[in-house]
Parts: sequence; C-alpha cells; structure tokens
Amino acid sequence: MRLVVVSNRVTIPDRHEKATAGGLAVALREALERHGGLWFGWSGVVGAARQLRETQRGNVTYAVTDLSEAERESYYLGFSNRALWPIMHYRLGLTEFQRSDYMGYLGVNRRFARELAGMIRPDDVIWIHDYHLIPLAAELRRRGVTNRIGYFHHIPWPSADTLTALPFSATLVRTLAAYDLVGVQTRLDARNLVDCLVMLCGAKFDGRRVRLGLRETAVRAFPIGIDVEAFRRLAAASVRQAATPLRATRESLGERKLVIGVDRLDYSKGIVQRLEAFGQFLRSHPEERGRVGLLQIAPPSRSDVPEYAELDRMSDEVAGRLNAQLGEFDWTPIRVVKKAYSRTALAGLYRSAQVGLVTPMRDGMNLVAKEYVAAQNPADPGVLVLSRFAGAAQQLGEALIVNPYDTHEVAEAIRTALAMPKSERIRRFEALYQIIEASGIHWWTRCYLEALAGEPVAAEDVEPP
Ligand code: G6P
Repeated sequence: MRLVVVSNRVTIPDRHEKATAGGLAVALREALERHGGLWFGWSGVVGAARQLRETQRGNVTYAVTDLSEAERESYYLGFSNRALWPIMHYRLGLTEFQRSDYMGYLGVNRRFARELAGMIRPDDVIWIHDYHLIPLAAELRRRGVTNRIGYFHHIPWPSADTLTALPFSATLVRTLAAYDLVGVQTRLDARNLVDCLVMLCGAKFDGRRVRLGLRETAVRAFPIGIDVEAFRRLAAASVRQAATPLRATRESLGERKLVIGVDRLDYSKGIVQRLEAFGQFLRSHPEERGRVGLLQIAPPSRSDVPEYAELDRMSDEVAGRLNAQLGEFDWTPIRVVKKAYSRTALAGLYRSAQVGLVTPMRDGMNLVAKEYVAAQNPADPGVLVLSRFAGAAQQLGEALIVNPYDTHEVAEAIRTALAMPKSERIRRFEALYQIIEASGIHWWTRCYLEALAGEPVAAEDVEPP
C-alpha cells in the first residue's frame, strides 16, 4: 500500500528548516516518513506558471503546484480563511462570505483533483487533510478514482445550527459523502459533523456510519498527538546544549519565573485575552510583580487577511499598555515575540517555563499543549494551564482547565500554577505524560490508516485513551 497525503500547504523539508510551533506540517511529515509515498499540495508559491514539480526526499515524493494570485485570494485567503476558518471556530461575527471566493475554492479543488488523479495508482490509499480540501474526494470520484479516500479535519466542527449560516453549507457538507472515512479530533466534533450530514443533507446514521445516496462514510474521532519521545529528547538536549534563545532567555530572566505561550498569531488562540489575564494576575497579586514574566511567541500568520492584521495591531497595543501600566524600570512583565523559532529552541523554552499557557478560544486539538508536557523535566515539571475549548482538554484533564473568556479564572490559574507544590506538579505531569505517550503521532496515524483500510481498529470507535 502506498500512502498519498494531500494538504493545502506542502513544505519540502531541507536540512536547516525552521518549523513553527506544532501544527499540521510537523505531524504529517513524521507520518509519511514512516509509510513512504506521495505528498501533494500547494507549494506556497504564487505565480502564473502553475506547473507541477516533484522532489524526492528519502521515501517520500513531494509533488507541488503553485496557485495563481486570483486562486490565492479566493480559495486560500477568501473562502478557506475568511469563511470556513472563523465559522468552524464558532466565530460567526468574523465570518466573511463571498460567492466568488466559494467559486475559487471549488475551482482549486477541481484543479487539484485533475492534477492528482494522473498520479494515483490502483493500490494507493489517499489521505486528504483539512478544511481547504473538503470537496477534493468528490472531485476525484467524478474523475473515476475508486481508491479508499479518507479526510481528516484538523480544526473544530461546529454545530449544524452554526454552520447553516454559511451559504452553500449543505452542498459542501454533502461532498463529505465521497470519503470512506472522515476523522475529526473529538467526539463533540464527530457528533456535530454527523448532525450536519443528517440535518442538512438528509443522510441516515446507524451509530457507526453515515449513509447518503449509495455511499457509506464512517465518521470517528482520532485525537492527534505528537512524537512524545522525540520531543522529550529534543527538550533535554536543548537544555544541555543551551541553544542561544534559551540561554539568552534564562540570562534575561535571572531568578524570575517564566510563563510561556506559543501560538500562530491567530484570533482563535486567545492571545489578546491571555495577555489581559496575565495583566489581571499581576493586578490581583502585586507581590508577584517583578518575580515572573510572560513570554508570548507568536509567529505571524495569514497577515493578508484583515482580521489577522487587526489582531497583530491589537496584541501590540495590549502588551504595550500592560507593560507601561505594570512594568518597572528593571522589569518588563510581557514580551511578545512575533517570529518563528526552531523546534529545538521551543522545546528548551517550554522546559524552562514554570507555566505553559495554552488558552485558545477554540482549537481543534492544540499540539503546543502536548509539546509543553513532553518537554518538562520529570523531576521538576511545570504546570499546563489549558482552555476547555481546546480539543486537547478532552484528554488532558489533569491540566488546570480554564475558560479563556473568564479573565479572572485564567489569572487565578496562573497563580495556582506558580504556587503549586512540587509533589502535585509531579503527579499531574505523570498523568498527562502517560496520556500523550499512549496517544502519540504514531498511534494516531496507525489508528487512522487501519480504519481507512477498513481493517478492524483496537476499539470499536477510536476513543481518546
Ligand atoms: C492550522 C490548520 C492547518 C494550517 C495551519 C497554518 O493548523 O489546521 O491546515 O496549515 O493552521 O496555517 P496556514 O494558513 O499558514 O497554512
């Protein structure tokens, strides 16, 4: 069996790459290297040529195509990131729909299907990723592709009631029936997605599979994980080698404690609300001033989308205001760094932070939460503060679970985390570590691919352990 992975963005790895925190790219590369095969998608380049280019790296062929400027505008910036992204993250108020964007989205899916269909072999298993490519299987089926095709939805799936606000949502949801398996992160996502198929498209659900017309589609939750052991080793090595950002951070902190947040600069991540919560913590607990700092690493993302440009401005403004109000001449409470760091540097930073603040307003899974746990020193671990609206909260109940809309609650959780006795930190860490280890990235790909191949999986429905 050859594995064919399709995702919007394909980054061909080189030796000196810099990865942003967590996310899809890192997880998928690890999956493909284990199975061998083909990875198809957008090169990240915008140009007129649009030729398909192939590059071999080990046992993986990367086949990439460029987008035209109009395609990038309509398919990527428009429908994917101004309509689907906000609505799937329950942000109706930020959802901007244009018919021309939707047409562009369908057009790119059609073109991808045309280019990909020529490369498919009879024994290939095709695994399509994320919201940019929902109709791709339907387009492939139209071209006669009969292979097993799976879809994994990395972001949340909202309720039918929310999704119907999106024009053409029923048509879009209906294209999911072209898949043999649809995977989502949590049971709530699975329930919502099945509801959409039943309520918007009239599908039948027998408790395991959705039937629509002649097709049967399995819908299941597969919570994505990380390579825990590799990340743990990276963190341990990073501390030994004292990689530059880590040493510099430590020197600049002195005896002060570190609270860390690492996210793409995205409104779903709750960065502004998190800064406000840290400010609230310092106001409620003035004795902590000067003793602790928040480092927020936020590599810029989708900056051509107006809502992201606004977040960029807002986060600077809030951090600037809080620093001016609460800082001292020799202490800056909040540092926001808007650039990407290597995974090694991040692993070291996580390990030296007493608190990991992962407080998205809504998130499919959130791999930073798992990376933070994996990076800890088992003898003296830090504490994870985690939003109940991250998919990860369904598994990581031993974190301090918070409602990111409640600034006071997050502020008090920071206080609790900083004051937590070592014995309790170790107990919570051990419980969390066990879970992320039992449901790592290799577990995830194995479960998904076994289910896609139609083989029995360990559990009737794959449940988070
Ligand atoms: C999320 C999505 C991915 C996406 C990533 C980065 O993790 O689930 O599909 O690739 O964000 O966003 P970008 O728009 O830069 O690809």
